[in-house]
Amino acid sequence: MNNPVIQSLRKRRSQYSLGRKVGQSRAEIEALIKEAIRLSPSSFNSQSSRAVILFGAQSEKFWALAGEALRPLVPAEAFEATAAKLASFAAGVGTVLFFEDQDVVKGLQEQFALYADNFPVWSEQSSGIAQVATWTALAEAGIGASLQHYNPVVDDAVRSEWDIPASWKLRAQMPFGSNEAPFADKAFMDDAERFRVLA
Ligand SMILES: Cc1cc2nc3c(=O)[nH]c(=O)nc-3n(C[C@H](O)[C@H](O)[C@H](O)COP(=O)(O)O)c2cc1C
Repeated sequence: MNNPVIQSLRKRRSQYSLGRKVGQSRAEIEALIKEAIRLSPSSFNSQSSRAVILFGAQSEKFWALAGEALRPLVPAEAFEATAAKLASFAAGVGTVLFFEDQDVVKGLQEQFALYADNFPVWSEQSSGIAQVATWTALAEAGIGASLQHYNPVVDDAVRSEWDIPASWKLRAQMPFGSNEAPFADKAFMDDAERFRVLA
């Protein structure tokens, strides 16, 4: 299929083998990530998504903080594998931390009481949309990434390290960098089980 969006979506894969050999400057990557999030839709155009973009030593700091937070929780014999995994994320160019601003969610619940139960769900959906937009934009630029969830274990450390507002809730982490390995094979389920088309 020749559609450019489909072609970009096809390029987006989970890349766990990251390096630092990207062609873009940090400023270019920053602009790309900001634009992907800015263009992502949100309920009532509330723009509840927030992002902290960490490059270089700041990204390494995040993965070190994740290690410190996990050490007391992971059995000692399993920690080496955990540390190796965290090191693979730190080996990239940077990490995007995705947050949702709970003050925005609360404000919407107060303003539109009828939908109060929906706003937290829509906020999560908006975060997912922003994540996939960022991931796809990076892929289109030839930059590999994966989606990680070390929240809430790492939340307190992140809040104090980067002075994150109390209302920002960490939802996901996206380490990115050069693609240093081919993507794993990926199986797709049968369309017949997944889609119904009626006309
Ligand atoms: C909502 C969501 C949560 C995910 N969480 C993780 C995660 O915590 N760690 C991880 O390595 N991959 C995570 N993934 C990546 C999926 O495992 C991956 O997208 C899926 O296996 C398809 O592979 P692909 O990304 O290469 O297309 C997540 C993906 C989604 C959409």
